Amino acid sequence: MGFGKVILFGEHFVVHGCEAVVAGISEYTDCSLEVLKGKPGVEVVDKRPAVPGYIKEKRAEQQKAHQLVLDHLKINTSVDGLRITLGGPLVPSSGIGASASDVVALSRALSELYNLNLTEDQVNGSAFVGEGGYHGTPSGVDNTAATFGGLISYKRKDSRSLFQSIKFAKPLYLVVIGTGITASTTKVVADVRKLKEENPMFFTQLVSQYNTLVAEAIKALQDGDLHALGFLMNKCHDLCVQLTISCNELEAIVKACRQYGALGAKLSGTGRGGIAVALTSSAKSRDKLVQELKDNCPEAKFIWKYSVTNGKANL
Ligand code: MEV
Repeated sequence: MGFGKVILFGEHFVVHGCEAVVAGISEYTDCSLEVLKGKPGVEVVDKRPAVPGYIKEKRAEQQKAHQLVLDHLKINTSVDGLRITLGGPLVPSSGIGASASDVVALSRALSELYNLNLTEDQVNGSAFVGEGGYHGTPSGVDNTAATFGGLISYKRKDSRSLFQSIKFAKPLYLVVIGTGITASTTKVVADVRKLKEENPMFFTQLVSQYNTLVAEAIKALQDGDLHALGFLMNKCHDLCVQLTISCNELEAIVKACRQYGALGAKLSGTGRGGIAVALTSSAKSRDKLVQELKDNCPEAKFIWKYSVTNGKANL
């Protein structure tokens, strides 16, 4: 199985070498495999409870991703094929790490079926290769969260994934809100790269603001300063707006979260649809925010509650 994830800080910046903060969530994708004797090729039975449109929209990328994992692990399906059945409680939608949890779950299942004895690092490496099928040049943050779970800081440096668990002082009560819009990570990542190429000075200045902000955010997590954390999430969202990765629906959701008591709110993941994440001060204020969003925010098409406690997500 592979966990879903919520990026708290650093979507897109992480593709350009910055540090990100990500929480693995306990909802996961699982994968079972069946060898199709004498029937070559790969069949996918996708039973994941996705938001409408998601599975169809991602089908071609998924095929590429699965083949990359099979090639990486040297599994040949040209004589005996493979049926891949995906399921589990994670609701696939843009931003929640569904693609990474898919390729992590597949890598683990292949390891078991073919006795590959993959280590966790090898599962993560295999999933990183698979993520390439979903979005060309992944930073590796999603597959790392999907493999290991928990709250981690992550950075890609010199083609290596550097990550460590963050010891945080207070539980995080999060609300994740889905727009129902499936965004193409490949396209949005390419647009941000274009912005960087066309406006290098502007981009460098955003990166520098972000680097200061993420260092403060990690300190706020370690100190248990939730108000500072919320403030920094708001600031991070503003930087995401400047990266041009927000949209009207995300703006309406983020505004409503702040209006109805969130300590901070921002888009999370790819952007231009997908999800937003809001931080609240307690389980009670989280429940209140969920109710207000249901009553007053039509752009909030899906709402999930999460907690992150003691280095583990969503217990
Ligand atoms: C997508 O969940 C996160 C991005 O930063 C892409 C990546 O890190 O590979 C947009």
